[in-house]
Amino acid sequence: MKKKILVTGGLGYIGSHTSVELINKGFEVVIVDNLSNSEKSALDGIEKISGVRPTFYEFDLLDADQLDQLFKTEKLDGIIHFAASKAVGESVDKPRLYYRNNLQTLLNLLDAMVAYGVDNIVFSSSCTVYGQPDVLPVTEETPVQAALSPYGNTKQICEEILRDTVAADPNVKAVALRYFNPVGAHASAEIGELPLGVPQNLMPFITQTGVGKREMLSVFGNDYDTKDGTCIRDYIHVVDLAQAHIVALDRMIEGKQKSEYEFFNVGTGTGSTVLEVIQSFEKTSGEKLNYKLIERRAGDIEKIYADTTFSNKELGWSSEKTLDDMTSSAWQWQLRLKEKEAQSV
Ligand code: NAD
Ligand code: WQD
Repeated sequence: MKKKILVTGGLGYIGSHTSVELINKGFEVVIVDNLSNSEKSALDGIEKISGVRPTFYEFDLLDADQLDQLFKTEKLDGIIHFAASKAVGESVDKPRLYYRNNLQTLLNLLDAMVAYGVDNIVFSSSCTVYGQPDVLPVTEETPVQAALSPYGNTKQICEEILRDTVAADPNVKAVALRYFNPVGAHASAEIGELPLGVPQNLMPFITQTGVGKREMLSVFGNDYDTKDGTCIRDYIHVVDLAQAHIVALDRMIEGKQKSEYEFFNVGTGTGSTVLEVIQSFEKTSGEKLNYKLIERRAGDIEKIYADTTFSNKELGWSSEKTLDDMTSSAWQWQLRLKEKEAQSV
């Protein structure tokens, strides 16, 4: 009997890639998404890649009644919870939207899990909980620092909600995966990141500049204490990240977890500067990128990258794809988007 997994936010960037990997590994996937930051076409993409069209529910996880109905209908074996608002800058302007959307959805999910005896949840956390670490690379023992944004605070609070819930309800088991910087797209270019409006993140801004949708990339600061003065991040291919979820979920369902609540750094262990990402993009796309060096972006940390020893050992998972795989797949996805836009005119 196939294990049935609810993927919340499953039509989003990471959720759609994870849904494909779940299907590839023999799981049955049920997706709930309110399409607030994605398009239903992602469901077509998942089907095109995997040959399976997941069951899809379109509603807001803030609606506890509809969520209750879903749990009544679907006999679930686990949950991967991606649904949230994720724009750091927007969270500063709209803190209550972020606290409501990112906290209440998790609380509604946990209520339904306890009510229906669904024991396993994998949660999307973020390296943003570490702030600017004093020591690099970051391990799971690195202290969580005071959040630098309401968004980052919602991730910290969600982790605490999970920790306290498993303490109160020992049947519930939870894993938080602290993502570093997910980038790239599935090799098929059938699914990828769909930033609405002007991209805040580096990779979509690079590919949109490469395809002429943006005039020029501004590199935020080249006076940092790094090899070329630009910030360092641990970029991880979204497919590697998706596969980490399957391993974490499987391990939980098989009862191999060491404690009811665990968290893992999910990165590559390698830091890359902004200029190194640009160089990789130019190499893999053959495009010369139009960019300029400007002042730092407020709130940016200088450098962060993961120590992946614990997740490699405990999850038996490690990233496989290179920075060139990331920039190349991001570019192919951007070209596919341009093709789709031309067809829709
Ligand atoms: P995304 O916006 O592409 O996907 C989130 C999905 O959730 C979207 O499809 C959106 O429509 C849906 N959603 C949001 N609120 C909902 C609600 N109330 N009810 C139902 N659906 C809802 O984002 P993503 O990049 O795929 O990120 C997924 C998760 O990973 C988020 O929790 C995010 O905070 C976390 N994360 C992302 C990154 C990153 O750089 N992308 C890094 C670290 C952590
Ligand atoms: C990466 C680097 C920028 C854009 C954010 C969130 C984090 C997580 C991942 C959700 C930085 C530089 C960027 C540009 C640039 N999201 N940059 N020009 O800031 O590391 O992390 O996304 O969980 O919570 O904070 O990612 O892609 O925005 O920036 O120079 O136009 O690229 O300064 O050094 P970041 P990013």
